[in-house]
Amino acid sequence: MSAIKEKDYQGQHIDPHTWKTILSFGRSRWKYFIVIAGGGMVAGIIDLLMSLMSMWAIDGFMYSGNTEKFPLFIIAALGLQVILAGFTLIYCRSAGSLEAHLSSDVRRAAYLRLQTLSFSYYDKSSVGYLISRLTNDISRITEMVSWTCIDLGWGVMAIIASLIGMFIVNWRLALINIAAIPLLALLSVFFQKRILRYQRETRRINSMITSSFNEGITGAKTSKTLVREALNDKEFTGVTTSMKQAVMRAVTIQSIYLPLASLIISLATGAILIKGGHDVLSAFITVGQLNFFINIGNMMFEPIRNFANIFAEFQSCQAAAERVADVLTAESDIEDTAEVVAKYGDMLRPREENWEPIEGAVEFKDVSFWYKEGEPVLQHFDLKVRRGENVALVGETGGGKSTIVNLICRFYEPKEGQILIDGKDYRERSQLWLQSKLGYVLHTPHLFSGSIRENIRYGRLDATDEEVEAAAKLVGADEFIRKLEKGYDTDAGEGGNLMSTGQKQLISFARAIIADPKIFVLDEATSSIDTETERQIQAAVDTLLRDRTSFIIAHRLSTIRNADRILVIDAGRIVEQGSHKELMAKKGRYYELYMNQFHADKIDESVAALNEGV
Ligand SMILES: Nc1ncnc2c1ncn2[C@@H]1O[C@H](COP(=O)(O)OP(=O)(O)OP(=O)(O)O)[C@@H](O)[C@H]1O
Ligand SMILES: [Mg+2]
Repeated sequence: MSAIKEKDYQGQHIDPHTWKTILSFGRSRWKYFIVIAGGGMVAGIIDLLMSLMSMWAIDGFMYSGNTEKFPLFIIAALGLQVILAGFTLIYCRSAGSLEAHLSSDVRRAAYLRLQTLSFSYYDKSSVGYLISRLTNDISRITEMVSWTCIDLGWGVMAIIASLIGMFIVNWRLALINIAAIPLLALLSVFFQKRILRYQRETRRINSMITSSFNEGITGAKTSKTLVREALNDKEFTGVTTSMKQAVMRAVTIQSIYLPLASLIISLATGAILIKGGHDVLSAFITVGQLNFFINIGNMMFEPIRNFANIFAEFQSCQAAAERVADVLTAESDIEDTAEVVAKYGDMLRPREENWEPIEGAVEFKDVSFWYKEGEPVLQHFDLKVRRGENVALVGETGGGKSTIVNLICRFYEPKEGQILIDGKDYRERSQLWLQSKLGYVLHTPHLFSGSIRENIRYGRLDATDEEVEAAAKLVGADEFIRKLEKGYDTDAGEGGNLMSTGQKQLISFARAIIADPKIFVLDEATSSIDTETERQIQAAVDTLLRDRTSFIIAHRLSTIRNADRILVIDAGRIVEQGSHKELMAKKGRYYELYMNQFHADKIDESVAALNEGV
């Protein structure tokens, strides 16, 4: 696969388009939003009522001395608090549920998208990167969205309620408090932006530290052989120092912001105390009313400071949101047409009753293909393969062998010309139809997490345990699997370290054979496999090839001696073809390749023999 490039997600500005994609998942969960907003409204109203009640209590009970209704006041206050607690419980629960639903909805959608995307998508993005991003990003965004909903709902209601309350009680004092709002808002936005910048910087450096750790651990052996420890240490110290500086900057800004914000609020309170104090003395307002203004100030300023926080949160999640939205809206280069889907079904609802049985004849008809415009890999390529024919592809690296088999698998489609399966353009049938009857073994066999048994069963999900074991026996994997401590139940992830590449390959052969494919593709990279495993793999391949059309890319030419036809591929063209015998007799390119490898092997063997002799 080509060099993996990760798109740079800047996430500098909040982009409504990105958020629309993500928030659209909330549409089906609108009930939660209503509960959360309703809860916020009730909380805002109760907060206002509590402030008003304190005002009445001070004026009513303290000044008049009439405490007859005091028990009633206590009961009402308690009642309001109980209602508030009840609503808090309900809307916190709703936010929690919203978070859970949203994240599972978004995850499912992203997972489905990734499954339907074509190979070319994965050329542009590394899979590991995608997986880690998707898991982390989705949690982060859905958590943020759900909980900021509460803050927003409550904040807006608190501000509206306090404004109404203030104007009802005394509009002059209300204006003093309101004057402080723009100041506080500007200050908060100004500082939050800077805090955010340094936090982002911290995260960026943090990921550099993680990758340094990663390299330090995984590359420990290489570092030792290259005596790189001192250099590594210097690099690492550099990164940690920048981290310390970034953290310090964020903390410093934070520590300037908090007292400044408090100062503005205190100034407003001070102004209210001066003006209100005069008014009390001149009996324009009561002490209770003055107290109300001091209370209500807090109720109004807190959400304003919080809004700046919410804004910062959205901005800090922007990059994550872009990454997720990108996956959610990614278009596959390879799509079945509407007619094909109507007849053959799609990935989720295949209509197998309409699938023709596949014979396995493959034909390239004047196929041209390129990954990048202007750099053709295949030009007017023709190839006709009978059903059941075993074809081997050999040739120099970069010649186009993998490209040819990727086209057969429809991981990519021809840019010009056609590929016919059983005489019909494969685009006239669904991708799933082809892929369900196609066995593909990659050079770096990928085992999924789960037991070895499950891994083999991925080939055909309804296979019984006996069938799984029979498949393993057929390819000669049974013996070593049984020797593992937990046998077929060994976890392929953890056990992956216990198995050699060759053994993993045998497992992927078992997985391929259990599906009983009509077309089998093996793209093998040069790998140092010991002669015993090589013999086993050879035997497994021979078993696999029986009665199937096959395309084998083998770097060990001894593996393909029995192929019906060997194609020598160079610069996207077939430069020679025939059986092993014919090509050897011809003494051309194949002969050259074969003899080179033969001599190299002889030298290796002699060196090994010498080493053993020592
Ligand atoms: N995903 C890709 N994106 C862009 N270019 C690619 C991609 N895969 C292959 N190529 C280019 O296409 C050409 C053919 O590559 P291909 O992988 O088919 O060769 P190959 O014969 O399989 O080589 P090898 O023996 O090394 O596996 C090469 O020039 C390669 O650089
Ligand atoms: Mg290749």
